[in-house]
Amino acid sequence: MFEDLERVLFDEATILRRLDEIAAQISADYQSQELTVIAVLNGSLIFMADLLRRIPLPLKLDCLSVASYRGGTRSSGEVVFKQLALPDVAGRHILILDDILDSGVTLAAISEKLRTEKPLSVKVCVLLRKRKIRLRRVEADYIGFDIEDEFVVGYGLDYMEQYRNLRCVGVLRTDLVASA
Ligand code: IMP
Ligand code: MG
Repeated sequence: MFEDLERVLFDEATILRRLDEIAAQISADYQSQELTVIAVLNGSLIFMADLLRRIPLPLKLDCLSVASYRGGTRSSGEVVFKQLALPDVAGRHILILDDILDSGVTLAAISEKLRTEKPLSVKVCVLLRKRKIRLRRVEADYIGFDIEDEFVVGYGLDYMEQYRNLRCVGVLRTDLVASA
């Protein structure tokens, strides 16, 4: 797996140090508020597990499953919600967790959908944010790292469902990426 990387962007220690900082910020911002974290499956799983254990607040956790990628490296532009029931968000402060803000299509669709359920607030936390022009305008409130517009894997992020269990985040060798 590791040998499929062109280069490592963030090793495990670097990621965890950054999570300490974001968790401290989130803990301060949501003190004495009714917080519900909504993790976007599957990409945010590893990030979520490490981040939430650093936040000593009473919070609820729910997950949303969406599909916006069709196996390749580019978004299909269409977001499909894979479950019928949405998490119970009415009257609560919502923090959406996702692995990466790329085109913005996924997070825009999720925030829109959740807002129809009348939450008190909706914020977004991502591990990675790509520097690029997005298809949809989405602001992330908490960001682990800004990266260039390259296809990355590891620490939850996949290429065709592989590499999620890599401990680091790295750029995948271009010869392994089928041109989409
Ligand atoms: P969007 O283009 O912002 O809608 O990104 C949606 C999803 O695409 C993310 O949650 C990731 O699962 C996936 N994605 C976007 N860029 C990358 C990448 O560089 N590596 C792996 N997955 C990615
Ligand atoms: Mg993916």
